[in-house]
Amino acid sequence: MNLLSTSRATTLRSWHPKRQASQRSPLLYLTLLFSLLVFLFYFFSLSPDSLLKTRISDSPKCPSLGGEKFLWYAPHSGFNNQLLELKNAVLMAGILNRTLVVPPVLDHHAVALGSCPKFRVSAPNEIRVLVWDHVIELIRSGRYVSMADIVDMSSLVSSSLVRVIDFRVFISLWCNVNVDFACHGKLDAQPSLLDRLKQCGSLLTGLQGNDKCLYAVNEDCRTTVWTYQSGNEDGVLDSFQPDEKLKKKKISYVRKRRDVFKTLGPGSEAESASVLAFGSLFTAPYKGSELLIDIHESPRDQRIGSLMEKIEFLPFTPEIMSAGKKFALDTIKAPFLCAQLRLLDGQFKNHWKVTFQGLKQKVDALMQNPLPIHIFVMTDLPESNWTGNYLGDLAKDSNQFKLFFLKEIDQLIIQTAKRIADADHGLKFGSFANSHDGTDQVKKDCPSAVIPDVLLYIEQAVCICASLGFVGTAGSTIAGSIELMRKFGACSS
Ligand SMILES: *[C@@H]1O[C@H](CO)[C@@H](O)[C@H](O)[C@H]1NC(C)=O
Ligand SMILES: *[C@@H]1O[C@H](CO)[C@@H](O)[C@H](O)[C@H]1NC(C)=O
Repeated sequence: MNLLSTSRATTLRSWHPKRQASQRSPLLYLTLLFSLLVFLFYFFSLSPDSLLKTRISDSPKCPSLGGEKFLWYAPHSGFNNQLLELKNAVLMAGILNRTLVVPPVLDHHAVALGSCPKFRVSAPNEIRVLVWDHVIELIRSGRYVSMADIVDMSSLVSSSLVRVIDFRVFISLWCNVNVDFACHGKLDAQPSLLDRLKQCGSLLTGLQGNDKCLYAVNEDCRTTVWTYQSGNEDGVLDSFQPDEKLKKKKISYVRKRRDVFKTLGPGSEAESASVLAFGSLFTAPYKGSELLIDIHESPRDQRIGSLMEKIEFLPFTPEIMSAGKKFALDTIKAPFLCAQLRLLDGQFKNHWKVTFQGLKQKVDALMQNPLPIHIFVMTDLPESNWTGNYLGDLAKDSNQFKLFFLKEIDQLIIQTAKRIADADHGLKFGSFANSHDGTDQVKKDCPSAVIPDVLLYIEQAVCICASLGFVGTAGSTIAGSIELMRKFGACSS
């Protein structure tokens, strides 16, 4: 059911004059006022309940959706960071027995957390709002790609260790907006839907506080380290606390270790809420502790034990892996080394020397192999900037080295992006508890307008298949992710 038919939506738009910064005459205001009155009269006379429906009080009525309970969270930073958070979210959803709302891939660093060690992070409420707004923008601009389009979650779901639902399906059911999310521009054409999503967002992000529909988790890495079944340490102080230097800056947080099941599971205030919203789920080892989540084993809960084994390695979807293999077979056509060189972003721009040294060592060690040595390079440094550094040296010496790299405009990348958009793995996770089939609600009858950016994932897939080895940039999560996938033999499987 559409809230407004297309013709009415068009009318609605035409009454919104473009904002003019200057030269506002009284006459313009009068005209506007008059227009508004006419518009309101027209709108009420046509569809009295369209307006009522978009009022906050009865927008989301805490839909029961078959008694299912959900968990969403606010991912951020680059793709590989988002992947780590997805794994943590799967774990939390498993422990709390909630259906995980699988988010889209957010634009690189569109949302940032800040620094946990410095106790300077966006609060859960803030980061949820940023993520929500960004996701709506991805939908609006036709650039939505689900994490499940890139990361193969099918074995996780078929194992029944965790239940998942696509973010779009979730909001279309929960916010009661019915829109073809696959269609670019549909939201823009229906301002009332955008309004409705905005209202739903202010509820789901926790801006309106907690109620029976939503429990907004306000604990973050400044106050809490989540544990699970870890003896009697629920509530004890964590070993990492703000030091004297931070206390002088009036940073006085106390970090406690808390059992996530006891805090948010059965018997807690959170349990009865139909949606549980975390903020960031980023964690990393730090000074002998973990920044947010310290759950590495589950001695008493076998189900969670298996879940943890399963999420250690989540492969790319078949479309991405086969594109990587295709490039290795059809273009490189020989055993090759992969060099992942992160040179421009953040901390990495100060570490060129170390990064190139690592590569040179590896290349020198390969010099006894038949020449030329084939090297696949994935780097954020444009080719025009290679001269004058080690990459430039390699590129010049075509007798000894043959360099390969991929660009956004390569046919392989464009074709794969289209295949990923067509496969739409994310939307297959529309149904939950087998009682609702969300895919019915989110039909796909027009192509998405913007081809998703998949270069990074295909580059990673090529590197996973590099038979002469892999050299990455120290400290890069991309390198970490490639090494993990190589360890698990993701190229051959
Ligand atoms: C988990 O949730 C599902 C669906 O809500 C329910 O059927 C099942 O009994 C729950 N399992 C446990 C162990 O609570
Ligand atoms: C790359 O090259 C461009 C122009 O050739 C130059 O403006 C830019 O500063 C270079 N960037 C780096 C990181 O060397």
